[in-house]
Amino acid sequence: MSAKICVVGSINADLTVNVERHPIPGETLMGAGGGITAGGKGANQACAAARLGAPVALVGAVGTDANAKPATALLHEADVDLTHVEEVNEVTGLAVITVAANGENTVLVVPGANALVDATFVARHSTPIESAEVVLLQGEIPADGFARAVELAKGRVVVNLAPVVDVPRSALLKADPLMANEHEAGLILAQLGLDSAGTPEELARRLKDAGFASVVLTLGAAGALVADDAGLTHVASPQVEAVDTVGAGDAFAGAFCARIVEGDTLVEAAQYAARVGAFSVTRPGAQPSYPSAADHLP
Ligand code: RIB
Repeated sequence: MSAKICVVGSINADLTVNVERHPIPGETLMGAGGGITAGGKGANQACAAARLGAPVALVGAVGTDANAKPATALLHEADVDLTHVEEVNEVTGLAVITVAANGENTVLVVPGANALVDATFVARHSTPIESAEVVLLQGEIPADGFARAVELAKGRVVVNLAPVVDVPRSALLKADPLMANEHEAGLILAQLGLDSAGTPEELARRLKDAGFASVVLTLGAAGALVADDAGLTHVASPQVEAVDTVGAGDAFAGAFCARIVEGDTLVEAAQYAARVGAFSVTRPGAQPSYPSAADHLP
């Protein structure tokens, strides 16, 4: 059976260090942890959707180093179709993450193999992209790879442009929805030459007016805003005690797509995704924190 969702994106090994507080430049601090877990925005979103039961294929790359195995372990476990994940002569993408006691995190990414997911690479893996009902993209692969995936997509294109990178405007505007947090929304508006200041409602409306068919603005614990032709809808998030917010946006994006292919409206999908995002922040790590369909959501 061909996958309903095709994610074209990054695969990382996340090296996480827990610290009391983040170091300032020049400072050495002691931390704890140091384990490698599965991450990368593309892989996280694929894993989140698949754990909830959606048929998902991932197009991406890992290196020939030892990190390739932990980076893909939970994707295998979640039954993500990895036929289109190439092993390339590079290091596997690496994210160095610090999580402070107050829950704040910093993330540094070494793209490694992900940097090879360019237009030629993506074109080699056109089959799952062309046949998917939803193609889900982020900003951790080269811009021409992103643009080629949009060109190849015959179904709905969902874009979570995280991090915000310079992608061709015509490709970006195919997003339906464009999914971004407040910070990213401001950067995307600036990239489009528009005013990047304002309330979340103003940002969502301005993006919609810029030409996106729909926009989902994620607001963390405050939920999300959905802007479509029907107007602006606020979606609440369940209130939980957050221990680690790494990968929560990815959990939201993956869960959102899992519901879209089941026929949910944008608002229904966002309501469900907010609950999945809330579940994920109550546990450490990115993929290890994602619920399965059997888990009780807040
Ligand atoms: O969104 C969280 C992800 O960002 C981490 O898993 C890390 O790999 C970086 O890509």
